[in-house]
Amino acid sequence: MPLSPMTYPDGHAGWRAHDHASVRAVLADDRFSIRPDLMHNPFGPGRPGDAPPSPPGAFTDHDPPEHTRYRSRLTGQFTVRRMRLLAERLEVITVAHLDELSAVGSPADLVEHFAVPVPGLMICELLGVPYERRAEFQQDAMVLTGGSGAEAGEAEAMFAAFGRLQRFMLEMVAAKRARATDDVLSDLVNADHDLSDDEMAAMGMALLGGGLDTTTNMLSLGALELMREPARVEAMLADPAAAVEELLRYISLTPATVRTALEDVEVDGVVVRKGDTVFVELASANRDPARYADPDVLDLARGATGHLAFGHGVHQCIGQHLARIELKIAFPGLFTRFPGLRLAVPEDELPHRASLVIGGLERMPVAWD
Ligand code: HEM
Repeated sequence: MPLSPMTYPDGHAGWRAHDHASVRAVLADDRFSIRPDLMHNPFGPGRPGDAPPSPPGAFTDHDPPEHTRYRSRLTGQFTVRRMRLLAERLEVITVAHLDELSAVGSPADLVEHFAVPVPGLMICELLGVPYERRAEFQQDAMVLTGGSGAEAGEAEAMFAAFGRLQRFMLEMVAAKRARATDDVLSDLVNADHDLSDDEMAAMGMALLGGGLDTTTNMLSLGALELMREPARVEAMLADPAAAVEELLRYISLTPATVRTALEDVEVDGVVVRKGDTVFVELASANRDPARYADPDVLDLARGATGHLAFGHGVHQCIGQHLARIELKIAFPGLFTRFPGLRLAVPEDELPHRASLVIGGLERMPVAWD
């Protein structure tokens, strides 16, 4: 059965999509909406209408044509070519943080000294936001992307975080208008278009949120997998591109996303009625045995293609090129510099994040010789 019935916390008799083909089909179909205000919340109590409509510019939560209006202003800036230009800068940032890790000495927290700052600096430089001011935005961005207990329905905390982050980003928009710099926000602010300051600030917030918390957690969870067996490190060093794709598939950092039918839609023989919500399980699709042989085995040389760790369809991750470049530079850099890298505590003492939206580790003490 391509879709399975699922009873939601509010009692809604909705669906879950879990095999590769049906997950792709749902995500590729514009008759399914991403809007939070239309959905039955799969994570906790929450009926359609409980969540307010998402503000203009928060494109991650809008359907076409609004989504297209915003995203089309950004796609030109996230091309493979522009990301390649960033790779050189990334090499420098990576080496600087490996030096820092070395200076701290064994054992050290890989999350604090490497997995958080490297992607954080990259997204800040790309966007044109000062990383030195991260104390003002980091926590709020995480709350908004759901990495910090947002699925528990903490609406007030989310509003407060949104307000603070919006003020910060409006300040950035004004600064870029006054003095253009070479970054995504400057290009956006100074381009010829009809976007308001509030819309551009919300777009910047979505990018910051997406860029801060995701690659960080892929780095910590990925390093954990690699440290389990020396052969895995060898495979990463032999072919970083293939190994990174397999880690993305296997870990499936964002385990699921949610869509709601705007009209009756048939998916592989099952009719999803207008208003029905579908819990779209990317992690399960990435381990579909019909698509991947031995799907529960981490085979870094498998050359996995078509995984859905970055989603699919119009909302497919806009930062995927950046994330891939970061991972392809950071993992080999880390294990070349510290060949015997290992956990410094028993694995069951690692603090996993309590989030169904984005997995990750709060800390990961590592040791080396
Ligand atoms: C969208 C995963 C890195 C920004 C998505 C989606 C997934 C995803 C699954 C689709 C969500 C859905 O359809 O509901 C990941 C993973 C990453 C990563 C696993 C790292 C390994 C990044 C980075 C950025 C970013 C570095 C920063 C630019 C975004 C944005 C969207 C998005 C803005 C929404 C796109 C839209 O709605 O059009 N990401 N992401 N992500 N991602 Fe990423």
